[in-house]
Amino acid sequence: MIAGKNVLLRAWKEADLPLLRSMRNDVVLQAQLLARPRGSDENQVRDWLKGFAGANDSFMFILADPADDTALGFLQFKNTDFISRNTELGICLASTAQGRGIGQEVLALAGAYMRDTWGLGKIWLKVRGDNAAAVRCYEKAGFKHCGKLSNHVFISGAWHDVVLMELFLS
Ligand SMILES: CC(C)(COP(=O)(O)OP(=O)(O)OC[C@H]1O[C@@H](n2cnc3c(N)ncnc32)[C@H](O)[C@@H]1OP(=O)(O)O)[C@@H](O)C(=O)NCCC(=O)NCCS
Repeated sequence: MIAGKNVLLRAWKEADLPLLRSMRNDVVLQAQLLARPRGSDENQVRDWLKGFAGANDSFMFILADPADDTALGFLQFKNTDFISRNTELGICLASTAQGRGIGQEVLALAGAYMRDTWGLGKIWLKVRGDNAAAVRCYEKAGFKHCGKLSNHVFISGAWHDVVLMELFLS
């Protein structure tokens, strides 16, 4: 477990499934993540979590409230390349947990963990070009813009740019 002032990064548990299921089925939230819900039940959410836990190149953390351990969202790393020492980040907070500085704290904690514990040198990510809150949060955490795929994803009835960002962990 990684403990911050306002957030914990920990392994998933059964009590987290209802929140994660509602997030996985939220069309607007998933569209922000460049994803499309298929209608997940708790078994499918559990399989999704186990898939991350079982993959050698992936990490999954539940973001939880230090006051009562309730889940607030999740953080994932995938496509980790331990030779080139980079990994792809994804983060998602429930709407009630957004805009309180938690994203900032998670990015700082996760970057330090990936650098100091796993020896990684870079975190990179893809973000929808019009996701201003996420882009601002990443910029504030030190991520730099490093590319853009124009009109790359068709989602929720429109074409969207995908912005690439990277953070060196030195
Ligand atoms: C993106 C996300 C992780 C950011 O975390 P957060 O805890 O809400 O962000 P913070 O409270 O740490 O805010 C970070 C900065 O973004 C700014 N911000 C928040 N909402 C904003 C908006 N709609 N437009 C512009 N900036 C915004 C904040 O003001 C803050 O900057 P400031 O301190 O200079 O004011 C979170 O909102 C989230 O999970 N959103 C839904 C899923 C998502 O989009 N994930 C990212 C996919 S790539």
